[in-house]
Amino acid sequence: MTTSASFAPTPGAALHVAIIMDGNGRWAAARGLTRAAGHRQGAEAVRRAVEAAPGLGIGTLTLYAFSSDNWRRPPREVAALMRLFRSYLRGETDRLIENGVRLTMIGRRDRLPAGLRGAMEEAENRTREGRRLHLRLAIDYSARDAIIRAAQLAGPDVAHTRESFAELIARSCSPAAAGRASDVDLLVRTGGERRLSDFLLWECAYAELYFTDIMWPDFDGDALGEAVSYFCTRERRFGGLSVAAG
Ligand code: FPP
Repeated sequence: MTTSASFAPTPGAALHVAIIMDGNGRWAAARGLTRAAGHRQGAEAVRRAVEAAPGLGIGTLTLYAFSSDNWRRPPREVAALMRLFRSYLRGETDRLIENGVRLTMIGRRDRLPAGLRGAMEEAENRTREGRRLHLRLAIDYSARDAIIRAAQLAGPDVAHTRESFAELIARSCSPAAAGRASDVDLLVRTGGERRLSDFLLWECAYAELYFTDIMWPDFDGDALGEAVSYFCTRERRFGGLSVAAG
């Protein structure tokens, strides 16, 4: 959405919401559970958010599941996350198709386990007709790396516009068939931290930012609705003047 007035979601309006799903580990620690158990509960919250999104006027939902810096975590936790992503894709694809959700992945694929790569391709392929919601999972994703790769694709001689460079960034982190998503309208971060952690830095240039103390495993449709309600109170000016002042 790129209007200059404040936005009220209507069915079919293509709001792009991106979420940094933080707090799985702390949620688990507070209950004496393993971090892997926290991530498993996090997968339930992903299901809830995906189900709630279309009814809130969200057309694109991008979820930060694994950053390129998350490889620094203990191998056991990394392996548990890779298994969880794979089982989510294998177990959830039928439901995504039923709900009209198209799933694509952004991020590097060459460092992922072969089984996960295969599950990604299968899920992307099987859900490609989905029109109610475009769900994008960011796995082995770094915004700075995506921008560097886009600059390499651009080469030395080409005068790029914001639009054409944005296309290169999209190409640098997802297969060409996935196409380019619109800029992010609303960035949500759960878990009480207030930082961007190398997520969609280019695409968030004019995003509204919403931080909540809710730990990701406790996040649900109501919490997503609150974030969208906050967004609706914002007047977006994109560097221009407010409607009243103009
Ligand atoms: C950050 O919280 C969360 C992650 C690095 C993993 C996100 C993964 C999920 C939500 C699992 C399900 C995802 C899918 C796509 C099925 P943290 O573990 O760093 O939490 P902490 O800051 O409390 O330690």
